[in-house]
Order: sequence, then structure tokens, then C-alpha cells
Amino acid sequence: MMKHSLFIYLFSLSLAFSLLIFSQTVIGSGDLVAVICMNFDAKDPVAGYDFCDACLRADPRSSMANLTELGIISMELIITNATNVDSSIKHLLNDPGLSQKTKEELQNCLSLYSKSITTVKQAINYLKSDELNSANKMISASMEAPKACERGISEGSPLTTESQTLYRLNEIAFVITTPVTN
Ligand SMILES: *[C@@H]1O[C@H](CO)[C@@H](O)[C@H](O)[C@H]1NC(C)=O
Ligand SMILES: *[C@@H]1O[C@H](CO)[C@@H](O)[C@H](O)[C@H]1NC(C)=O
Repeated sequence: MMKHSLFIYLFSLSLAFSLLIFSQTVIGSGDLVAVICMNFDAKDPVAGYDFCDACLRADPRSSMANLTELGIISMELIITNATNVDSSIKHLLNDPGLSQKTKEELQNCLSLYSKSITTVKQAINYLKSDELNSANKMISASMEAPKACERGISEGSPLTTESQTLYRLNEIAFVITTPVTN
């Protein structure tokens, strides 16, 4: 009897200890970024784990962030990046080396990216009120902007790299807002 209960005691103790370690690694100390980036890597192996890791860890809050906070961080990255791309486009619109046609197409990108920023802001609000699915839908919509922008440029896009980065940043937010059960 004594031996038996000692065993149970030690077993529970080690179980509690493993759970403690597990929750500290997975939830407490930034390895949520690792979990997210492994999922990202599975979805987009070309961009890969390191892209995701570098983007998220550029924000010092990410190491301590829970899922909601990490989602907000990823969406703020999209907004900052899209805002910068908007400025690049405005700059390109004054470039005498670009054709009128390309400029009209870039104007379309500008409007797509501005809409995308509004959509991502909505996604942040949904996330803040724990409406993960709605946030995820908003990100799906925002993710279309870089693709539509590139499709609309008929001769040699000057934005290929920027659009690709924006697409991938949206993918990170998409992965974060995709329920784990999927
Ligand atoms: C994440 O942390 C915030 C505080 O910053 C808290 O309000 C929220 O409930 C937490 N969410 C989860 C899913 O733990
Ligand atoms: C967009 O984000 C990527 C990845 O974080 C970064 O390398 C790039 O400089 C950003 N571009 C702009 C225009 O903000």
C-alpha cells in the first residue's frame, strides 16, 4: 500500500513537473512563435520558417505574447508594410520612366492596398473581441490584394517583391487565426 501510494505521488509529481515545463516552453517563453512558424512553414515552405520567425521576432513583444497578442502583432506588421508599399507606389507614380498604362495599374494597387489596410484593422478588432473566425475571414480577403495587384500589372511589375512579402505577412496572420483543430 505504502509503495503504491508513493508511486502515485511520484508519478503525479513528475507529471505536474512535465506539464510545468511544457507550458513554460510552449506558452510562456516565446515558443508560441516557433509553433506558429512551424505551421507557416508547412503552408509556405518556400518562404519558410525563418521568414516567419524573423518577421514576428522583429517585434520584441512577440516572445511573451499569447495567441491573440501574436495575431495583433502579425496584423500590425501587415499594416506597417502595406503603408510603406503605398508610399513606394506614390513614388513610382511620379517616375517618368514608367508608362501611363503601368501607372494606372499601380493606381489600382494603391487602392487595393488601402482597402487591405482597412480590412486588417477590422481583423484586429475581431481578434480583440475573440472572434477568431471573422478575423481569419478578413485576413483571407486582405491576402487577395497582393495577388490582384500583380495580376493587374501587364508589363513587368515594379512591385513583385513587395507584393510577395505582403502576401507572406498575410499568411502569417492567417496561420495564427486558423483554429488549431483545422
Ligand atoms: C492574452 O493576453 C491578453 C492581455 O494582454 C488577455 O486579455 C487575453 O485574454 C489573453 N488571451 C488568451 C487567449 O490567453
Ligand atoms: C516589409 O516587411 C519585410 C519583412 O518584415 C521587410 O523586410 C521589408 O523591409 C518591409 N517592407 C516595407 C516596404 O515595409
